[in-house]
Amino acid sequence: MTTKRTFTMLKPDSVEKGNIGIILEKITASGFRIAAMKLTQMTKADAEEFYAIHKERPFFADLVSYMTRGPIVAAVLEKENAVEDFRTLIGATNPVEAAEGTIRNMYATSISENAVHGSDSDENAAIESAFHFSGREMF
Ligand code: RTP
Ligand code: MG
Repeated sequence: MTTKRTFTMLKPDSVEKGNIGIILEKITASGFRIAAMKLTQMTKADAEEFYAIHKERPFFADLVSYMTRGPIVAAVLEKENAVEDFRTLIGATNPVEAAEGTIRNMYATSISENAVHGSDSDENAAIESAFHFSGREMF
């Protein structure tokens, strides 16, 4: 069965640079339907929970600081094979390694400040969507 939904965040650097519109245009032009979306800001506790899998990593404190320094755009996206296709669209974590034309290749600053998040599995897509949206906010 193919995946229908994934979860994304346009990270604080994308909002700061005024890149919300151009990134959303690329996402929808690539065939993703927006099922939920909002501008929101994560607290320190939110970011520590959201990225808990990385809590032992050396970059964890910087990651939490980065993700909480300003608003993000959180969204649920729908498309056949959504999780895998969205990871392809955003490109590698490090923009230097991200393929030509991918969102991170075009809009990320560095491996730390890399413009967008994309869920890495169906299970995490569901967990992350529910973290940010109630059932009544997803269409
Ligand atoms: P994401 O979860 O945000 O979609 O990113 P990802 O799967 O491509 O990468 P992941 O390994 O899950 O790392 C999560 C985020 O942590 C920051 N990071 N910094 N300084 C570093 O070496 C480093 N490595 C990762 C990035 O913001 C990365 O997206
Ligand atoms: Mg990840």
